[in-house]
Order: sequence, then structure tokens, then C-alpha cells
Amino acid sequence: MNDEEIVGLAMKNGFLIDRDAVNIIKNFSDKREIYQVIKRAGKCLKDSDVVITPDHINDVCFPHKSENKTDLRIRYDTNVCKGEYEEFTDMFIDRYRRLGKILKRRLPASAIKNVKKRGGGSDIFVVGMVSNIQKTRNGHKIVEMEDETDLMSVLLPKGSDVIKEDLLLDEVIGVKGSIKGGRRNILIADTIFRPDLPVNRERLRSHGKIGLTSDLHVGSVTFKEDSWKRFVKFLQRDEEVAGDLDCIIVAGDVVEGIGIYPNQERELFIKNIFDQYREAANLMEDIPSDIKVVISPGNHDAVRQAEPQPPFPEKIRDFFPERFKFVGNPCYIEMNGVNVLSYHGRSLDDIIQNIPGSSYNDPVSAMTHLLKRRHLSPIYGGRVAMSPGERDLLLMGDVPDIFHCGHVHTLGIGRYSGTLIVNSAGWQEQTSFQRERNIEPDVAKFPVIDLGSMGIKILDFGG
Ligand SMILES: [Fe+2]
Repeated sequence: MNDEEIVGLAMKNGFLIDRDAVNIIKNFSDKREIYQVIKRAGKCLKDSDVVITPDHINDVCFPHKSENKTDLRIRYDTNVCKGEYEEFTDMFIDRYRRLGKILKRRLPASAIKNVKKRGGGSDIFVVGMVSNIQKTRNGHKIVEMEDETDLMSVLLPKGSDVIKEDLLLDEVIGVKGSIKGGRRNILIADTIFRPDLPVNRERLRSHGKIGLTSDLHVGSVTFKEDSWKRFVKFLQRDEEVAGDLDCIIVAGDVVEGIGIYPNQERELFIKNIFDQYREAANLMEDIPSDIKVVISPGNHDAVRQAEPQPPFPEKIRDFFPERFKFVGNPCYIEMNGVNVLSYHGRSLDDIIQNIPGSSYNDPVSAMTHLLKRRHLSPIYGGRVAMSPGERDLLLMGDVPDIFHCGHVHTLGIGRYSGTLIVNSAGWQEQTSFQRERNIEPDVAKFPVIDLGSMGIKILDFGG
């Protein structure tokens, strides 16, 4: 096709075409291909735009984009625990200081030691870590709070709003209250503050698409292999959604693992852990090579259970294509300026167990509790084993634009204070564990986020 014919073809479709764009497509040998490229490039035009440029052509012809268009920055940290008592002390001090700092920006807090010295008064602010919660016979609650100077009791009066707050052990909170008479050790609370996410965040707009998934459980008899294969085929063939997907994040439980719960072997289709990963790699390697794949571990994977979890060991990574990126759990993945916090979600068990009204059917609400506390696992000593160190690595220092978890196997999409919350469910049909607890999992759903609009589309491969 010559230049004039291409310009004519574009005009016939209602567009003008830039000279440089013509130069790119005139090299295509197939007339039909040129026709299709012009048609699809036209669809990329914004409302007031009528001119097809080289950018539009590149977007259409090279839909999986070049390396420089997708900027991926990965940040995670793991520690090596020496098993010394001081490491726990350091971790909790770090938690108190960093979350306390967030609260103290908003609250004129005094040290507990000084508050106790001063005695009575109202509008007293303190910031501390919750070390004990008890109900009294009269229906009040007494919370022990600790800062670096002292500890004090906080009374949450019966019938007040503050008693309805779902306080958790080891979370860092701020309290506004008063001390009556000579009872210097008891602060009567009237408001509870949490570190929380900043309000009035600017609406983020970037570019590119990111897909979130987790919990394949390859090796289990309940892994939905046919759905997974349909999904990979879709990635290979679909132009409109998969064609411009830049990155897939897998938030753990790639395999079913072995010895995770009693009698698990009865539900294993592949009984050897390395064979499970070999199979997982086979099933994932056909994901088109221009889609970046980032994989972090979960509690079924063959890495240490204590969080933060390190990436898969080399022996397992070697089964997978070299282009896959293996990261720790949790992990911040910044794509084109959008900050995704990906965490497998083991602590959701603790939240669901400890906060009334929480449920496996509503992961968004449980994940919101984590965001408000700016911590991925606020309760120490629950289901999450923590590897201590100088810094509390499960603390949410940075505010995520997207907060992604798996683990509970139920799909959840929500928003909280400018953060998009996604639980990506999984690829495993109902297990005996879930049957016993009446949990109906969501299977083979794939959320795709358009970073331009921050809109989300759920693709369903279950049928
Ligand atoms: Fe899982």
C-alpha cells in the first residue's frame, strides 16, 4: 500500500493520519493488517482527537509495550531472626515510634508519665500501644496502654461510642479523655484515634493495566486446572483486555504445599512439593512473555512461615521462566507511579476471629481494619508467626494506592480513603476446611485494574 492509499483508508474510517504514522504502517506487507491497525488505532483516539499518531500505532501494534513504558519498582524487606528477646523489644518500640509519629502529627499527645504526674483535667491526649483489654462487671472496658515512659489504664465507659471501637492487642492508638479527681491512673476516654490513611488524597491517574491473582493451590485435587488453562489462553488471545495487560501480581499460595493441615495428603493430587512447583511453572510459563509476572509466597508455599516471608528459594525459582520476578511477602510493587501493597493475608484470620461482625465472606472489611491500623498484622501471638528484628516490617509505612491480598479465597473489591482494596480470591474449589466453616469460595475470577481510571474489571474463568 502506498502513502495515499493509507491516508485514504484512514479518512474512509473517519480519521486523519500523521505522516510518521503512515511511514510505520506502510511497511506492513498485508493489506488486511494495515486496515485492522488503522481501525484499532482509531479506537485509541480520545474524544476530540482525530489524528492517528505513531504512539497510537505503537499502542496497537505492540500492545504489550516496551520495557521503558512500564516502570516497575519492587520493594520488600526480610530479616534474619537471631532469636533474641531484644529483637522483639526493638520491633515493638519501632512499631510504637513510627505509628505514634503518625498519630502525634494530628494529636497534641503528652507522655503517659507526665499525664500521671499532672493528674486531673480534660482534653488529655495520649498515644500508646494496647497491652491488655478487659471487660468490667459493670459493662465498661478497661484498656491498658503503654508508651515509652509508663503505662496507664483507659476506661471505655459502658454505653459510650468509644466502647464500640474494635480495639486489638498490640495496636497503636491515640486517646482523648479526661482524668477525674485523684484517679491519676485512669483516663476516661471520649475519642479513640487510629494512625489511619491520610484524607483528601489526590485522585491518582497513571497508565497501564495490572492484574491481581493469588491462591492457585497447584497440587490440590480442588485446583481448577481447566479454568487456569482458559485464563492463560485468554491472555494469549484477547486483544482488548489482555492485550494491554502489563503486569500480573500473584500474592502467594502458588501450590497447595504439604503438611499444612492434618490429613492434607488426602486432598493432594501431587504429593511432592517440588513436583507441585514444577507443575505450577508448566501452567504459568505460557503467560505471554511481555506481561510481567511478580510472585510472592503465602502460607502454603515452601518458604519460612514467619512473616515477612522471603522469596521462593532458588531451587524453586529455577522451575519458572527467568523473566518471572520473585519477591517477599509483603511487598510494595510500584507500577508507573502507582503503589501496590501485596500481602498474602494470613492475618485476616486473626482479624476475622477478633473483630465482631467480620467474616470470610467480606474480606474488604477485614482489609480495611488493617489499613486503619497501618499494620498488616496488628495482633502479636495469633495465627501469624512474626520474625522479629530492629524494624517492624509489617507496618504500613507507605500509603498504598492499591491494597491486594488473597488467602481467604473470597473475592472482594472496595475502596477506603482513596485506596483501592482487592482480594483476588483463588483457583481452588471448596475445600473440606471451607465446607466445615460454610465458606463458599470465589473461583477463577481475575481482577484487572486500569491505572488510567483506577477502574476495575473482573474477568470470570470459572464457567
Ligand atoms: Fe490459599
